[in-house]
Amino acid sequence: MNILLLGSGGREHAFSRAINQSKHFSRLFIAPGNAGTSNCGENVDLNPLKLDEVYSFCVENKIDLLIPGNEDPLVAGIVDFIESKNLEFGTSIKVAGPNKFCAQLEGSKDFAKAFMVKNAIPTALYKTFDATNIHESEDYLKTLTPPYVLKADGLAAGKGVIITSNFQEAVDTLNEMILGGMFGSASKSVVIEEFLDGIEISVFAIGDGENYRILASAKDYKRIFDGDLGPNTGGMGAISPVPFADEVFMSKVENEIIKPTFEGLRKEGNPFKGFLFLGLMNVAGQPKVIEYNVRMGDPETEAIFPRLKTDMIEMLLAIADGGVDQLALEIDNRTAATIFLVSGGYPGDIEKGKIIQIDETKNKENQFIYHAGTKLTNGEIVTNGGRVIAVTSLNSDIKSALSDSNELAELINFDGKFYRRDIGLDLLKYENESI
Ligand code: AMP
Ligand code: GLY
Repeated sequence: MNILLLGSGGREHAFSRAINQSKHFSRLFIAPGNAGTSNCGENVDLNPLKLDEVYSFCVENKIDLLIPGNEDPLVAGIVDFIESKNLEFGTSIKVAGPNKFCAQLEGSKDFAKAFMVKNAIPTALYKTFDATNIHESEDYLKTLTPPYVLKADGLAAGKGVIITSNFQEAVDTLNEMILGGMFGSASKSVVIEEFLDGIEISVFAIGDGENYRILASAKDYKRIFDGDLGPNTGGMGAISPVPFADEVFMSKVENEIIKPTFEGLRKEGNPFKGFLFLGLMNVAGQPKVIEYNVRMGDPETEAIFPRLKTDMIEMLLAIADGGVDQLALEIDNRTAATIFLVSGGYPGDIEKGKIIQIDETKNKENQFIYHAGTKLTNGEIVTNGGRVIAVTSLNSDIKSALSDSNELAELINFDGKFYRRDIGLDLLKYENESI
């Protein structure tokens, strides 16, 4: 089984490791990959958004299965593109990911909101504005209780959501987004929505077009500093599972959100194949959708995959070929705590090229190191981005998993290393409740 994985983050290193451990593994390419993925397969200099080049690479290297790790190629329509090439040239490259229609769930907030309303999926009230109706936006904002939530319709690298309690600031920001090109073409259209007060949680599912299965829950920590302070980042850590996601909560998530999502897409003639990521707010026990993503999360993947005992290639083939319902899905009951080690100054300007020292000799069986912003230069591993390395530990509860991850974080050193010390501490009260 020859596989091409697109991406270069901690998520892709976690995919690579799991693929390496599969009994069906033969060859893995990662485009472009990082220093960690180069130990699991061959990193290749290929731009995932150059769809023609990706297809040619697949043909030349006899790729059986393509896995888009992040959203950009999916939203650009890589699945439809490969399928049309398969038809045209008689190739049979499988892709474990959703088509362009389904990828709009992530690629357009307006599409996602309209889909949820149509399928009665619980979410915040909203209205979409662009240059043609911006004059009505102040009246709409007045109907809402602050804080105001403004979301760029298109992909904005996780930065397209602005929340402010100040009415004038909301009006000015909306103008800046729609008319001033604050997020380029991504903010030509903006969704204004009701603020949801609660605690966030992500739930992941896989689908093969006919069937779906729930993988796991996780909580992501987005702000740079302890206590959820400071600017947003790509994610500073994660915990899986989330202790308040008990049976009652998860059955609401499944029946009110996941099932109608898969059914709704099937009814539109576009069944969902791939990983579905539900960003939810738990509003007093009621899950509501904040956002859809059509791929695994980062750093949630680094917390969930160490818990997954299922053969990764079998799971990916079940997604691509069907049979997700028959899959022997097995998840470790232990808790995973993931901490991201980031470069000094992140999420602002950072310096790359710092030498990374990793003392792997003290690693335990329950500890995992996932590279993200790293690369090999003259035989040394150096920093190559804001989020550098994610460390994960599995243990019986959050505190002990966290303590193991803190230990691991101290075995890795580079100039300017920074990480949060409070990942998961907000969840301890729920963990005690559930015992
Ligand atoms: P998103 O990029 O859609 O995940 O939004 C970024 C962050 O903004 C989320 O992780 C939430 O913390 C917050 N957020 C988004 N929508 C809402 C909402 N309707 N109410 C409260 N917070 C929100
Ligand atoms: N952890 C959030 C994301 O992957 O979008």
